[in-house]
Amino acid sequence: MALFNSSAKSDPLAHIPGENGLPIVGNTLAVLKDPKKVSDHLYGTYGPVYRSNVFFRQTVSLLGPEANEFVLMDRDRNFSSKQGWDPMLDQLFPNGLMLRDFDNHKAHRRIMQVAFKQPAMKSYVSHLNIGIRHGLKLWEDQGDFHFYPAIKELTLNTAASVFLGMPLGPEADRVNEAFMDSVLASVAVIRFPLPFTKFRRGVKGREYLVNFFREQLPKRRGSDAQDMFTLLCNATDDEGNGYSDDDIIDHMDFLMMAAHDTLTSSLSTLIYHLALNQEWQDTLRKECQSTANELGLGPDDDLPYDSLDSLEMCQWAFKEALRLNPPVPSIPRQTTKEVKFGGVTIPANTTISVSPGFTHKMEEIWTNPESFEPDRFSDQRAEDRKHKYAWVPFGGGAHMCIGLHFAYMQMKVFMYHLLTKYEFSVEDGYQADFQIMPIPKPKDGLPINIRPIGASSPLEEVA
Ligand code: HEM
Repeated sequence: MALFNSSAKSDPLAHIPGENGLPIVGNTLAVLKDPKKVSDHLYGTYGPVYRSNVFFRQTVSLLGPEANEFVLMDRDRNFSSKQGWDPMLDQLFPNGLMLRDFDNHKAHRRIMQVAFKQPAMKSYVSHLNIGIRHGLKLWEDQGDFHFYPAIKELTLNTAASVFLGMPLGPEADRVNEAFMDSVLASVAVIRFPLPFTKFRRGVKGREYLVNFFREQLPKRRGSDAQDMFTLLCNATDDEGNGYSDDDIIDHMDFLMMAAHDTLTSSLSTLIYHLALNQEWQDTLRKECQSTANELGLGPDDDLPYDSLDSLEMCQWAFKEALRLNPPVPSIPRQTTKEVKFGGVTIPANTTISVSPGFTHKMEEIWTNPESFEPDRFSDQRAEDRKHKYAWVPFGGGAHMCIGLHFAYMQMKVFMYHLLTKYEFSVEDGYQADFQIMPIPKPKDGLPINIRPIGASSPLEEVA
């Protein structure tokens, strides 16, 4: 039943169909429990534009590919990314690229592009190869293996060398710990630094990182090292504009956060589905092995940058994981002026959101939306091309993920080393339960059995 707000005079959104949910918490608990159920219900009841009350804010949701295009392309500068993300990120990751708008955002993004051009990417790929090979060796002989914490640690350790140019050791550990504290705090419910709270640890973590970056900055300016931090210290746009010290600190902190949880989340979804779908795992393994054979690569060789494109089916499978569980399930904005969409007028200064998570499961676009079918991204099926904004795990428009190619690269290097040396499976009948908001992760850490190719699995040994 539609529950329209009765206090129409005081509520500027009262004319928008929707539900405010429970007193104080609104629809938050239901969304945390099962966001798909909530959006299916609200979409079914009110259509693609509706009002709800999530995370203590009234929000207008705009659903579907047309809504994604309208908001993310934002041709008329109707939507502020900064105002949308600030409540979640401003205290711990202030002034990151996503927390900037319009001309200021454009100027900062131009400078950052330097760290994502081909020469930089080629240097990252060799660090990734080394870090991932080393990390995978540590996974061998672990009895009670859980994929999620393991990939989190591996990603953190590779980030120390790719992002910061630091060798593994106590200093990298301390930086990683401070970084993890601030990431955990960014999704904490209590958002005030009271003693013993996650949020306070996050604030302390941020202080540590700021001091670390500030102390390192003079050594990095003018250096020709190729890690992301040093590149940002020396990056300029075509007119020679570069970043101030404070800009670099804010951008670095934000970049590490933007890369970390998204990669650990998406790789967990991918590995889970490949453990369940052994035929796809074998298909991707063959693709990796044939790349190795063609290039004459041995087990300790790097996957070269120039051969990344040959792992086409690995890319389909990753895209499918990002479709099923997009790491950013919902993208917030705030209206800068009154806008109209789908016949609904939305006032200025309203929090709105678009939802990759919802669009990625729409039956109008995807066949068997809940099932893992990587070939839906093949040229033959091309389901993602039904609408330019049907598949949007990396967003779109001016704020589209700047690390998209980095993410593909890290995934491919990881899959290549994993699949050419190891097999993995889950126990018969196992179904992972993913927490979806604020970022998807397997609640039980994703127990998998991983073993060198050809070694028997523990179950076979018992039999
Ligand atoms: C699977 C991995 C990833 C996913 C799914 C992902 C997703 C996203 C999404 C949806 C946005 C746009 C948010 C918005 O419009 O409000 C975004 C922006 C961003 N991402 Fe990623 N991301 C990933 C990996 C990375 C990596 C590896 C990096 C850095 C190396 C990175 C850095 C950024 C930055 C800096 C922005 C802000 C861009 C801007 O505002 O102009 N991301 N990402």
